[in-house]
Amino acid sequence: MAEEAAVRKPRVAENHILAVGGGKGGTGKSLIAVSIGICLANRGNEVLLIDADLGTANLHTFLGLEPPQIGLSDFLAKKKTGIDGVIIKTGISNLKLISGAKDIIGMANLAYGQKVRILSNIKKLNYRYILIDLGPGTSFNTLDFFLISHCGILITSPEPTSIENTYRFTRSLLFRYLRTMVSQKVVRSLIDKGVMQRNGHKFYTVFDLLQAIERIEPELGDTIANHLSSLDIKLIVNQARTTRDRAIGQKMAMAARKYLGIPIDFLGNVSYDNDIRKGLLERKSLMAYFPYSKAFEEIIEISQKMLPTYQLGLNFFTH
Ligand SMILES: Nc1ncnc2c1ncn2[C@@H]1O[C@H](COP(=O)(O)OP(=O)(O)OP(=O)(O)O)[C@@H](O)[C@H]1O
Ligand SMILES: [Mg+2]
Repeated sequence: MAEEAAVRKPRVAENHILAVGGGKGGTGKSLIAVSIGICLANRGNEVLLIDADLGTANLHTFLGLEPPQIGLSDFLAKKKTGIDGVIIKTGISNLKLISGAKDIIGMANLAYGQKVRILSNIKKLNYRYILIDLGPGTSFNTLDFFLISHCGILITSPEPTSIENTYRFTRSLLFRYLRTMVSQKVVRSLIDKGVMQRNGHKFYTVFDLLQAIERIEPELGDTIANHLSSLDIKLIVNQARTTRDRAIGQKMAMAARKYLGIPIDFLGNVSYDNDIRKGLLERKSLMAYFPYSKAFEEIIEISQKMLPTYQLGLNFFTH
């Protein structure tokens, strides 16, 4: 018996964690997260959606559900509740949901320990795909959920403000990543200065920061540059209406490589669909449009590109 236990390997969850985020509010992050979830579930994959927009969770609305009675807040409030205990059915086969928080004060600013608890429990869940929907902005909560994922998907709309925010979000992400990854004190202090002095443009780009690091520790500069180029970050342009809108994604990917030093994989455009908007106003589930909408056709195509990747898994919080 003891021998058998000794050879039995612990069960390793075979999941692919995808985070959907981007700096700007209202660009369609939640809509795309739910839609990709529906597409992957319809292809026979077990999928779990997690509403990590802790302040204003609303994924249930996209699924035509009433606000769930349990969610992440219960998991955090009751130490004995396992994460399995807050997973609910969505009415769509293969698709489950963990709803967000029920307006508990302070939920939008999780303590470090709470974040670690959520993240380590998510990693153990046995779903083929786990999609984490993030709120707007660049809070540490949001950046950290993005960074523990195997793959991060940025959603932008074609508006200049959204493009700018997506760029800012990505830059904050890289600074956060470097700040956590790099243990050398001297480099950490450079990164902190870079973040603090960004208005003075001292380290406005990640390249500026890398150059400064290389001057102090030439080898570390190379290592960091290699890490950055292996991040798996993808981009979707949502609410596209014109030819000009449809050309923005490629340009943004090129700019990210040039100014941030990271590859961003442009996955495609999703059209603006007024019927979806009207349906959401009437609280219809997104499922009603599957697959009869141009936007959904595009999302189906995009979700087929969601192949498993393991590059972003950073062992975040082990530092
Ligand atoms: N492709 C689209 N076609 C039509 N309407 C859309 C599309 N994408 C988003 N919308 C509309 O934009 C609204 C906002 O979308 P959504 O809530 O997904 O954005 P979000 O980025 O998650 O917002 P927040 O930052 O507040 O979480 C939706 O309710 C919907 O009405
Ligand atoms: Mg949202």
